[in-house]
Amino acid sequence: MMLDNPATKYRPFVGVDLPDRQWPNRRIEQPPIWASVDLRDGNQSLIDPMDQERKQRLFDLLVKIGFKQIEVGFPSASQTDYDFVRSLIEGGRIPDDVTIQVLTQARDPLIDRTFEALKGATNAIVHVYNATDPMFRRVVFGVDKPECIQIAVDATTRIRQRMAEAPETNWTFQYSPELFTTTEMDFAKEIVEAVMTAFGARADNRMIVNLPATVEVATPNNYADQIEWFCRHIKDRDALIVSVHPHNDRGTGVAAAEMTLMAGADRVEGTLFGNGERTGNVDIVTLAMNMYTQGVHPGLDFSNITPIMREVEHCNQLPVHPRHPYVGDLVFTAFSGSHQDAIKKGMAERRDHPEAVWAVPYLPIDPLDVGRSYEAVIRVNSQSGKGGVSYLLEQEHGIELPRRLSIEFSQVVQEVADRLGHEITSQMIYQAFVDEYLAKDSPFKLVGHRLSSEPDSPRVSLEATIEENGDHRTIQGEGNGPLAAFIKALAAAGHDVEIIDYHEHSRGQGADAEAIAYVEVRVGDEAVFGVGTDESITSASMKAVISALNRHFSTRAPAPNVTADTLA
Ligand code: KIV
Ligand code: ZN
Repeated sequence: MMLDNPATKYRPFVGVDLPDRQWPNRRIEQPPIWASVDLRDGNQSLIDPMDQERKQRLFDLLVKIGFKQIEVGFPSASQTDYDFVRSLIEGGRIPDDVTIQVLTQARDPLIDRTFEALKGATNAIVHVYNATDPMFRRVVFGVDKPECIQIAVDATTRIRQRMAEAPETNWTFQYSPELFTTTEMDFAKEIVEAVMTAFGARADNRMIVNLPATVEVATPNNYADQIEWFCRHIKDRDALIVSVHPHNDRGTGVAAAEMTLMAGADRVEGTLFGNGERTGNVDIVTLAMNMYTQGVHPGLDFSNITPIMREVEHCNQLPVHPRHPYVGDLVFTAFSGSHQDAIKKGMAERRDHPEAVWAVPYLPIDPLDVGRSYEAVIRVNSQSGKGGVSYLLEQEHGIELPRRLSIEFSQVVQEVADRLGHEITSQMIYQAFVDEYLAKDSPFKLVGHRLSSEPDSPRVSLEATIEENGDHRTIQGEGNGPLAAFIKALAAAGHDVEIIDYHEHSRGQGADAEAIAYVEVRVGDEAVFGVGTDESITSASMKAVISALNRHFSTRAPAPNVTADTLA
């Protein structure tokens, strides 16, 4: 049960003292060195760790995306990982510009086994860690500070020796003080400096120091302060590649990584879509795409993000959330009417100025850049308004509703959505449109018409045959154009109709092209819309008037044919 006073159980995090911090004024202007830990930290956290086949597929995917540093496993702790490392090396599966990384604990037999696993590698990072956090020193390992330093130094010395014995490999050394963010800063500095000395780190022999937020325990600015403090206080900054490894326990792993980059980190370890222990490692896809939206190319290729997501889901056997930034199934979708309206306007402006800087409301990124289409952007349910409905009719069915008609028709769709209680597809919307405006054929139907005119006169005479309650009638009228003549003919037959508004456009192309006409007419006291389609624009406009009359006389049961079955 939650405590009335959590302060009796939990203490606020005490950050490093850095009143003259510089990082808040900086911006991320270039990508870091990216290191994927999907195959190690990510894999360690899976319900069913990956088998060889899934590991290989994920490795190939990481290479294809553009990762140059990939932690492929913990070979001294797992036979599967050992075998995988061997198969990568012996199978020649590692491109020359890619460096594999493996993790080891700071113990001699494990270090030796790690080097066995790496035999014959062209490029390799040996990553050793030990716990430096005071609670771990006391509770887990029972070591004091000097003993803790000794463990790190002994491991470093042995790794240095092993590296010297295998000069055919291009080695990099990496050390992580585990739980860096909860280690006393001066002790973190002391142990890293001891390790640097043991390794012989210099500007021309750099090592990676990885400073993990093993458990995220504070707001992300604290991690940034610690990284800036470390970079400013460490003895020989030039001898180091400073790496961060944010976990996501508070849900701010991405923010933490971004702030630590502003604070001076050179490298980020993380995973695709944030898989990893507990709430995961930092999500490199989000980080990279965040950079991209600021105009900085991340150096990783997520142009086709959906297949990447599906492949990662297969390898991890874990779903990516539908709201996951940049990739989730719903993140380029708007259901809300006001959002749809704004997106529709933004898209229309973009069509006119495709070269302009991206500025479409509610879409921080162009879906096309990550291989997503505009089609999925606007979807309709009971929360949607006219914007989405008319957008889908226009995009997918070539029907450009005039504004007032789109307001009326959105109410028809709203009733369907409320009745069904779930999303309705563009096909269902189209069916509702046909049912409401095009399919009603009683009491009136246009059977045919003939037009004649005098040369050089705008006036036309029209003779039309209509069906009224099943009986054919011929009606006649004259006017300034076919539609006006038709209205006159209807009036002469006892049906007074006044045109309030009229729009037309063509729909489709080539042999399939047809005209579509929209009218708003007054019949008695009622203003009513009608729509007609035909190969000829004259017939389409007359059919639109007939449609309006039929709607006026109908009982108005909207969209009778749209049911859940239409989804099938
Ligand atoms: O989270 C962590 O501290 C780790 C280390 C092994 C770097 O994964
Ligand atoms: Zn980790």
